Amino acid sequence: MSPHAFAVFAALLRNRSGLTIGPDKLYLLETRLTPLLRQHRIANLDGLATRLAQGRCEKLARAVVEAMATNETYFFRDITPFAHFRDHTLRYLHASRPASASLRLWSAAASTGQEAYSLAMIVAESSPWLGARGIEIVATDIARTPLERARAGHYTQFEIQRGVPMAALVRHFQKQEAGWRIAENLRAMVRFQEWNLLTDLSPLGRFDVIFCRNVLIYFDRPTKMRVLEALAEQLAPDGVLYLGGAETTLGLTSRLVPEPGAPSVYRRVSDATGTIALEMNASSSAAASAIERRPVSRPRSGAFGTS
Ligand SMILES: C[S@@+](CC[C@H](N)C(=O)[O-])C[C@H]1O[C@@H](n2cnc3c(N)ncnc32)[C@H](O)[C@@H]1O
Repeated sequence: MSPHAFAVFAALLRNRSGLTIGPDKLYLLETRLTPLLRQHRIANLDGLATRLAQGRCEKLARAVVEAMATNETYFFRDITPFAHFRDHTLRYLHASRPASASLRLWSAAASTGQEAYSLAMIVAESSPWLGARGIEIVATDIARTPLERARAGHYTQFEIQRGVPMAALVRHFQKQEAGWRIAENLRAMVRFQEWNLLTDLSPLGRFDVIFCRNVLIYFDRPTKMRVLEALAEQLAPDGVLYLGGAETTLGLTSRLVPEPGAPSVYRRVSDATGTIALEMNASSSAAASAIERRPVSRPRSGAFGTS
């Protein structure tokens, strides 16, 4: 591939999805874009770059962005953030919000849906104490094809084995001829929508919890800063952001600070005082502050307690 072609792909990906690729990722372009060449009857990557540089083929540009996205995901990925959400955040939000208020959760780089359905399973398992509390789960991704799979809620045996505990499988999935399908009540809980994190996020509304995991790692520093600022804007004042294990807000924004002792958990800093919003709220609610003092590291028993 010519240096010019490489520059065309790099600029397209950076501008459209935030993906930053260096010359060391040449092999990735070759392996992921070769199927597109066949599909669109283009001789080679230089030819594809020429077509893209002409700027008249939106469909092709989208296909390149999708082909280059890494969709790797699995149920209850890294387990600790999900245990924290179940044992702390969900309980805190339930205790501190009026009974009539719905809680809004967002899986912001949802891929094929495992993250959003993991949250839905936790919500379903928590129904004995959540009662009639309304919970809305929004799951977005830039890529259309994984979202279609997510909506269908159909997973292979291999995907199930990567993270779904046996008790949760029995409770929340139905066996299909090939693989498993997520239960209808959980599917109905999640709204999947195409959304690019680099675009205006405000139409999505405010969220109490954002899972934006394992996508910032692909962005350069200015893009990380921009996306984190935008996420902070969409987070409720006492909302919680969960990032991937290799991601952080440190040095990128002062609006989201790590939760001490809880890896991957970040809280919004109060705009007015510079103090952490949740601490102020928790001190005004005995129930909520008691919840906040419960240990993070010991997930309770249940369908997800032992993963
Ligand atoms: C590695 S997956 C992470 C899935 C899940 N959050 C997890 O942690 O398992 C990254 C996802 O981010 C999506 N993505 C990449 N750039 C994006 C952007 N600019 N806006 C929204 N989603 C994006 C990709 O399509 C991909 O599905």
